[in-house]
Amino acid sequence: MSAPRLRDLPAHARAAALGLSEAQIATLRAGLSLEQADHMIENVIGVFGLPLGVAQHFIVNGRSIPAVPMVIEEASVIAACSYAAKLAAASGGFRAGSTEPVMIGQVQLLDVPDFDTARARILAEEQALLHWLNVENTSTRSRHARALGIEVRTLEGPPPMLVVHVLYDCGDAMGANLVNTACEALAPKLAQLSNGRTNLRILSNLSDRRLAWATCTIRADLLAAREDNTLPPALIAQHIEEASRFAEADPYRAATHNKGIMNGVDAVVIATGNDWRAVEAAAHAYAARSGRYTALATWRVNAAGDLEGRIELPLAVGIVGGATRAHPLAQLALQMLGVRSARELAEVIACVGLAQNFAAIRALAMEGIQQGHMALHARQVAMSAGASGEEIERVAAQLVAERNIRMERARAILEMLRADTHAPGAHTSPATET
Ligand code: MEV
Repeated sequence: MSAPRLRDLPAHARAAALGLSEAQIATLRAGLSLEQADHMIENVIGVFGLPLGVAQHFIVNGRSIPAVPMVIEEASVIAACSYAAKLAAASGGFRAGSTEPVMIGQVQLLDVPDFDTARARILAEEQALLHWLNVENTSTRSRHARALGIEVRTLEGPPPMLVVHVLYDCGDAMGANLVNTACEALAPKLAQLSNGRTNLRILSNLSDRRLAWATCTIRADLLAAREDNTLPPALIAQHIEEASRFAEADPYRAATHNKGIMNGVDAVVIATGNDWRAVEAAAHAYAARSGRYTALATWRVNAAGDLEGRIELPLAVGIVGGATRAHPLAQLALQMLGVRSARELAEVIACVGLAQNFAAIRALAMEGIQQGHMALHARQVAMSAGASGEEIERVAAQLVAERNIRMERARAILEMLRADTHAPGAHTSPATET
């Protein structure tokens, strides 16, 4: 007999079915305590919960990841992601890669009397400055990170300014603290070399030296094999490529296309305790790098008639430091992913983004997004209307049957259901049970 599907199990039984240990399950149940939260931010008054689910079927560079943890409040994302990963798995899964984890720190220099002289003096000192950061200065010396290079840019302004970029290999950390410290430490030296004054000294969130990419192949015949499909494989593949080209050509569509990608990316970034605002800022700035905002992931029909997908985006994520360490569930998420480096984490996240994008545009190009969304959305509306326990499924089913998923309707159905249940003679009525 085959093992039951995860979604057919009750929520409390799923972690054990995935093989998590007793200790890991206890961590899951305990979540983030008020005390732990109090150490993370200021003025804590509570802990805000979000669903933590897992996407399945991921194979990344030949390694199977049975459960990819995702924190997200939006229905359908995890199911869609798992479906796409399953299709990709039929062609060997995802291939992914990444650059070295290089971040950029910026130091703004103003009132510089002679830009050319300042630039020449700073660049002439590059090796000495790097040595100072990496070896001599105790606040920036690190066994895990390394200043790699210095670049000088000129901005016309107004006011005209020099901007010094310090390139940092951040190892397994996201690196914001490290890079900010280095910028602040270096600033007086740069002011002196340029005969100017410094203003901002901060990391850049356009982390375009810290990229991850992923590719996969999806067989068109598998798409056509869906029960609800009436289209031939070639036409489905063509529709998906057309959807991709729409996003590549139009920023209005690209923003939505990329939002779908970030549904997957952010969910893993959050689950692993990483800074999703940084990842969002980088992704969208990178999408606009040519001067026109475009798609982060693209799809093409190959010679065999199958779909080839590719995604590339900056992914400044770490597996050490910050909330990755402070949040007990982030530690658990990293264990579940089995990643041994920040780069490996970024590569898995790129795969999730590509899977999510595929699932979204497949649904849009075939049955439309609403059908899949409807059942889960209906449950959320039912709960918001006050349904609990078995009522949720009953109200949701009625909403879907009526194709009218609205709060007022959910309230009315719930009222009818309860009136019915409590009516004399109704079998679940407390009156008749006693
Ligand atoms: C919804 O959260 C995401 C989508 O709009 C993405 C897309 O349109 O590609 C479905």
